[in-house]
Amino acid sequence: MVNVAILGFGTVGSGVAEVLTKNGGLIDQRVDDLVRLKYILDVRDFPNSPYADCFVKDFSVIEQDPEVDIVVETIGGATIALDFTTRALKAGKSVVTSNKELVATHGYDLLQLAREHGVSYLFEASVGGGIPILRPLTSCLAANELTQITGILNGTTNYILTRMIKAGLTFDQALKEAQENGYAEKDPTADVDGHDACRKICILAALAFGQHVYPQQVPTEGIRNVTLEDVAYADSKGYKIKLLGRCLRQPEGKVCAFVAPHLVSDENPLAGVEDVFNAIAVTGNAIGDVMFYGRGAGKLPTASAVVADVIDIAKDRKKDHHNAWGPGAPALVVSPDILSSRWYVRADASMDQARLACGEIQPLARAGAPAGEAAFLTGQMTYPQIRDCLKGMAVSSLFRVLD
Ligand code: NDP
Ligand code: HSE
Repeated sequence: MVNVAILGFGTVGSGVAEVLTKNGGLIDQRVDDLVRLKYILDVRDFPNSPYADCFVKDFSVIEQDPEVDIVVETIGGATIALDFTTRALKAGKSVVTSNKELVATHGYDLLQLAREHGVSYLFEASVGGGIPILRPLTSCLAANELTQITGILNGTTNYILTRMIKAGLTFDQALKEAQENGYAEKDPTADVDGHDACRKICILAALAFGQHVYPQQVPTEGIRNVTLEDVAYADSKGYKIKLLGRCLRQPEGKVCAFVAPHLVSDENPLAGVEDVFNAIAVTGNAIGDVMFYGRGAGKLPTASAVVADVIDIAKDRKKDHHNAWGPGAPALVVSPDILSSRWYVRADASMDQARLACGEIQPLARAGAPAGEAAFLTGQMTYPQIRDCLKGMAVSSLFRVLD
């Protein structure tokens, strides 16, 4: 018998309970043992829940029960979740989580702790919701030197952008829908301002390049500055605006990682990723390009990834399941300023002024554009170069083009 305890009975935690119960027969078959939900810990009461008998309020009940093998942490955040995870690992219990904030900020230490105690710390659901990405990265692609990862990593912002463009919703209406669907973080500014995507690119970079990348090392911009005017200009030349998390291997073992809105050509499969879907494009020196696509948030898709980790541990509790990586370092992460790209610019200027400032440009048009507004694509240049070109111009929007 393998006993599981869930911490946090919210969107993901309740999905985990549902999948463990609904698919119990086939899970037992796959594990070749009985996998049972023994406890659920939450601050709230759920008297009418079908799992009412499992609820406890005191974590030490779980911590001190030698029958609990696997703790599923779906509380979120990096405070109480860190305390419970640390205590569970020290008590010899494996921990499975969907909590990317915790993995991105304390993953290295928690992986070390798990190893010291001969247990596992797994977090497939922390990136891409239900998309299998972390295990493929470290097992199916293990033969490659991975060179870069580019992903639509946040379901909420992709949903908001899609609903604003396709259904004409306001930003607030679209965000409300994302919250009602259970996609958004408890504090949705983490989605909107790019911090959630930042945490995910940190985890991907750590797994791909082998050293911990901390969120504070990663320049991050969200979708607040993306307007419907920008969307229309981009569309006129066959581009979509997407919030991308990117990490690129750099010489001497360094890493470049950042999160920002980009113009993505309609010819790139990332441009067609809509609603809550995420997609992660990985480049390796043997495979070339490979892309992972699926639902990036939501109750059951995320629970699917969490329960897969539970099954993996339950199948072989003695196996070393570790996704190990090395410690981080202040000089590890280099600024995206070194990367050259084309740029999308919208500014209060004439096209002649834009040409004078930026050289050869590709003008963009949209219906109803006011006189004195110029939108255009530049040639290849770094951020310091474009910043110098635009000095003295009133710039409303500046985004990279993904080439
Ligand atoms: P929810 O807020 O829906 O669930 C968290 C639950 O934990 C709530 O019921 C909350 O109660 C409870 N809780 C809070 N504090 C405690 C505590 N001290 N002890 C016990 N329970 C507590 O969050 P989600 O399920 O959406 O997300 C959980 C984690 O999974 C987060 O890290 C999130 O980033 C991640 N994630 C979420 C996805 C999604 O689609 N929602 C997808 C992938 C990952 P209360 O509400 O009263 O605070
Ligand atoms: N808030 C996150 C998102 C949940 O919208 O992508 C999935 O990690």
